Amino acid sequence: MSDLNDCLEMDRDAEVTKYISGPWKNHTQHERFVRNRIETHYGVGLGYWSIFLESNHSKFVGWILLIPYDGVGPEIEIGWRLNRTSWGMGYATEATLPIVKHAFNTVGVAKFFADIDIRNNGSMRVAEKIGMQFTGDSEHAGLPCKSYIMTKDKVRF
Ligand SMILES: CC(C)(COP(=O)(O)OP(=O)(O)OC[C@H]1O[C@@H](n2cnc3c(N)ncnc32)[C@H](O)[C@@H]1OP(=O)(O)O)[C@@H](O)C(=O)NCCC(=O)NCCS
Repeated sequence: MSDLNDCLEMDRDAEVTKYISGPWKNHTQHERFVRNRIETHYGVGLGYWSIFLESNHSKFVGWILLIPYDGVGPEIEIGWRLNRTSWGMGYATEATLPIVKHAFNTVGVAKFFADIDIRNNGSMRVAEKIGMQFTGDSEHAGLPCKSYIMTKDKVRF
């Protein structure tokens, strides 16, 4: 919860939430949504992880999530969101890999998914770089997406 304001500020950058549906433009609903996401107990080992720079532990970079799909499930989804100033430096990939290990080795999930807006090339690249497999076209909140899956046998580390 100590990262709430950083999360809200990040989402209010329209470039950051460009390909993600959510109540970003309504301050009250947005804050309620993020508080709820932070406070919800998704199951042992699942949730959101804030990212900080190794060189500056107080610099909030963004977060990685591993939660039931859309907060509901039953499938498990993985996701990433970073401040725009932190894009393009490999941080999303670097921060996601320990969560992939955690998912398989600690939580013991069999697989997890990501549905990514077809225009979100940077996010699809992160999915590919961590070893996720493209499974086909899908839809989320009425928008065309590409679906990716990760299974333990595909882990490359
Ligand atoms: C998607 C996001 C997390 C990527 O973060 P990042 O730290 O820049 O990611 P990385 O640097 O680890 O890797 C990004 C890769 O995508 C590539 N990339 C970035 N933008 C791209 C674009 N528009 N087209 C093609 N490739 C792109 C980068 O070159 C890099 O690949 P490379 O290492 O082969 O060069 C970040 O842009 C973000 O937070 N976006 C807004 C939130 C969001 O869309 N989240 C995902 C929702 S599904």
